Amino acid sequence: MLLPVTAEINKDSRISIGGCDVSELKSKYNTPLYIIDVATVKKQCRDYLKFFTFGDFDSEISYASKAFCTIPMCQAVKKEGLSIDVSTGGELYIALKSGFEPEKIYFHGNNKSADEIKFGLDYKVGTFIVDNFNELEILNRLAGERNIRQRIFLRITPGIKAHTHKYIQTGAIESKFGFGIYGGAAMDAAKEAASSENIELLGLHAHIGSQIFNIEVYEKLIDTMLKLASDIKTGLGVKLTHLNIGGGLGIRYVPEDEPSSIEDLSNVVVRALRKYTKQYDVKIDKIYLEPGRSIIGNAGTTLYEAGNIKCIPGIRNYVSIDGGMSDNIRPILYQAKYYAYIANRASYIGSIEKGDIKRNAAAAVAASGSGSATGIGGSVTGIGGSAVEGGAADPKSKSSQGSGSAPGLIKYNIVGKHCESGDVIIEDIEMPEVRTGDLILVAATGAYCYSMSSNYNGQPRSAVVAVEDGKHCYWVERQTFEDLVSKDKKLKEC
Ligand SMILES: Cc1ncc(COP(=O)(O)O)c(C=O)c1O
Repeated sequence: MLLPVTAEINKDSRISIGGCDVSELKSKYNTPLYIIDVATVKKQCRDYLKFFTFGDFDSEISYASKAFCTIPMCQAVKKEGLSIDVSTGGELYIALKSGFEPEKIYFHGNNKSADEIKFGLDYKVGTFIVDNFNELEILNRLAGERNIRQRIFLRITPGIKAHTHKYIQTGAIESKFGFGIYGGAAMDAAKEAASSENIELLGLHAHIGSQIFNIEVYEKLIDTMLKLASDIKTGLGVKLTHLNIGGGLGIRYVPEDEPSSIEDLSNVVVRALRKYTKQYDVKIDKIYLEPGRSIIGNAGTTLYEAGNIKCIPGIRNYVSIDGGMSDNIRPILYQAKYYAYIANRASYIGSIEKGDIKRNAAAAVAASGSGSATGIGGSVTGIGGSAVEGGAADPKSKSSQGSGSAPGLIKYNIVGKHCESGDVIIEDIEMPEVRTGDLILVAATGAYCYSMSSNYNGQPRSAVVAVEDGKHCYWVERQTFEDLVSKDKKLKEC
């Protein structure tokens, strides 16, 4: 799936999600607008629960809230029966405000402050994922002061490189996260935790990275972690029967992506668990996962309005949208790729089935602009017709076609409105001619977009609306200009 599972092209040739026409959402809520398809969120949660139910191991699925942490989202996953992982005091606050039972909260973070640790202890957070010796020492002391025996996992750096962008690799030897197996820190941490009076060491945790496509790496992870559990059993006499293998399952951002399914991941995991528990003679009672992106990523889309269209003949065409890096930092942060559609004239797309595009002949004709194809507002004929070989175009034409584009399609860079040349959301996407006022729908923006959004250039944070069964409502209201200055003080002598 690239788009949400409920995405369709409706009778007016517009994209609808959750039974809601995005043009109508634009009229009601304005743009930029994050749209969350609740059915997709539910489907992903249910798939995790279904495929990670095994006869021989208990399991627990924790939503990695960092992907998209708002009260309605936390409540949605809670309703589906997931627990939650938080990595700061702020995320912990949101999870508690959402009504999560503290018992179901897993508290991460590589540099939790003493105040955050106190906050977690005072609110009786079920499990801390302890990252380092400093935290272990503070946690043991603060738990003792409160007469608490705090349950923990140790976050381990397994020394495994996931094949993903280096900014979202977290399990390699040089990672800032966790206790390394390499160098002996993991064993030392197990020893210290096991002998800490106010700590109950439950198990081991590792998260090797995000947007992982080669899921066989999870087999290597389980091998490594169970070998460590076995070494801890032999060396310290401590039996660790709980294993958390983090999140990381990749999703489809662009049509060429071929991510594995939740079911595929489950098969790899259970096979590896059975194999390596036997091989290392260790017992695992419960396996934990922490998916973020694969729960919310494809459920979210962002709707923008196209403003200025700039064509530099033979060089590049730009579509400027009314948002950009403030609502989606990922392309500039780690060269993330996205895909988009003209949502108000969408018949060129073909049809959408379970979130993926099925091209049909009529759509291909429509896109090529030849014949009397219907769709694309009926005025598609001649799109890119002025292109000359090599990609140079008639400078007078508004629709100069870039080099190498399919007939009738024009290559665009979809760029934001921020004062940075790097504020590019999509590079070189081929689309029919885009006109000012068109609605541009960017797919798969549910994860790490709203949660990483900013007020750069004084851009208020965009609203989030949820759609389901033809109904829509705010999940988060749009910020106002007043919100931008609500914490500012007037200049005065200090
Ligand atoms: C510790 C931990 N668990 C889970 C996740 C979720 O990863 P993903 O969104 O790729 O599933 C992350 C993401 O950074 C993480 O750091």
